Amino acid sequence: MKLKKLVLISSIILGLTPLCRGQQIRGSHHDFTTSGKATYNSTGELCIVCHAPHGTDPTAVPLWNHNTTNKSFNTYIGYKFSLPNMGASTISQPDGASKLCLSCHDGVSAINQFGGKFQGPSGTAQTLGNHASNLGTNLTGTHPISFVYNTTLATNDGALKDPSTAASGLGGTIQQDLLDINGKVQCPTCHEVHDPTIFLFGRMSNAGSALCLTCHNK
Ligand code: HEC
Ligand code: HEC
Ligand code: HEC
Ligand code: HEC
Repeated sequence: MKLKKLVLISSIILGLTPLCRGQQIRGSHHDFTTSGKATYNSTGELCIVCHAPHGTDPTAVPLWNHNTTNKSFNTYIGYKFSLPNMGASTISQPDGASKLCLSCHDGVSAINQFGGKFQGPSGTAQTLGNHASNLGTNLTGTHPISFVYNTTLATNDGALKDPSTAASGLGGTIQQDLLDINGKVQCPTCHEVHDPTIFLFGRMSNAGSALCLTCHNK
């Protein structure tokens, strides 16, 4: 009886966490319906800038309704990232969800370019300009993204946890909770685009560098 109760309570807690988080986008920096941000989105709808139920970009998931960046990026050239850890392979251009984030955060793509055929509302293109959130197209100073983080990489590095077994702190392993479907580190590894309640749309608290220490053995 007691055990059943415990299981029930823990599943309620685990189940509620993502539900509560998903509701937080309203009023955040990703809510472009709020006053002052209507230049990005005058439709009055919250999700439409990024998602729509029909007619979305078939090459981008999930149900992507925004123009996707066509810029070429300078990618991370690590201290020891290429050798020996990654062999001779260099890090690829941003892909997956990172490419979606960069469709606004590259600072040059228009935020207000979305909707049918991704042309967006007419008017001047609104970019992030000089805003602090503008990462630019030079990502050499940004944590590496769009690469596979697996057991081999962890073993070769020697100071990384094994993503297939190490806990993420969010209920499952690093691979289950923090990597994408292809096992890659992406922007959403560290950010939850719909929820500003933890630091700057953070996936988890970084107090005491907890986020970093989830993967790095330092
Ligand atoms: C600023 C852009 C943006 C807005 C606005 C936005 N999303 Fe998202 N959403 C994304 C990105 C990027 C992803 C993929 C990355 C990820 O899974 O975190 C995503 C993923 C999702 C997913 C699949 C993964 C998950 O988290 O369950 C769902 C469902 C979703 N969004 C629903 C919504 C709904 C509903 C709204 C409006 C209330 C909304 N989104 C508003 C950018 C946005
Ligand atoms: C549709 C455009 C768009 C997309 C897509 C988008 N963002 Fe943003 N993001 C913005 C804008 C605009 C701001 C706020 C700039 C401002 O304050 O005016 C912002 C702000 C932020 C901030 C800073 C929050 C703060 O409190 O200062 C972070 C972090 C962020 N975004 C991460 C992401 C990540 C990660 C993704 C992808 C998973 C993403 N964004 C996708 C447009 C976008
Ligand atoms: C390894 C974890 C990690 C990854 C991967 C990551 N970020 Fe961040 N990001 C952070 C942390 C932590 C902060 C807060 C930094 C601080 O407080 O100085 C941050 C801050 C930001 C900010 C706010 C900058 C500002 O000064 O307002 C933006 C925007 C942002 N990230 C977008 C992105 C985008 C887009 C991607 C993918 C291209 C990405 N991040 C990938 C951890 C990450
Ligand atoms: C999801 C796991 C994960 C998280 C969270 C994470 N990292 Fe990383 N980080 C990696 C992986 C994997 C690499 C690639 C390492 C390699 O090549 O051996 C990396 C690379 C790096 C590098 C470059 C190392 C080099 O050899 O050039 C630095 C520095 C770094 N991370 C710091 C941080 C910091 C600081 C944070 C917290 C803000 C953080 N990381 C969060 C997984 C993560």
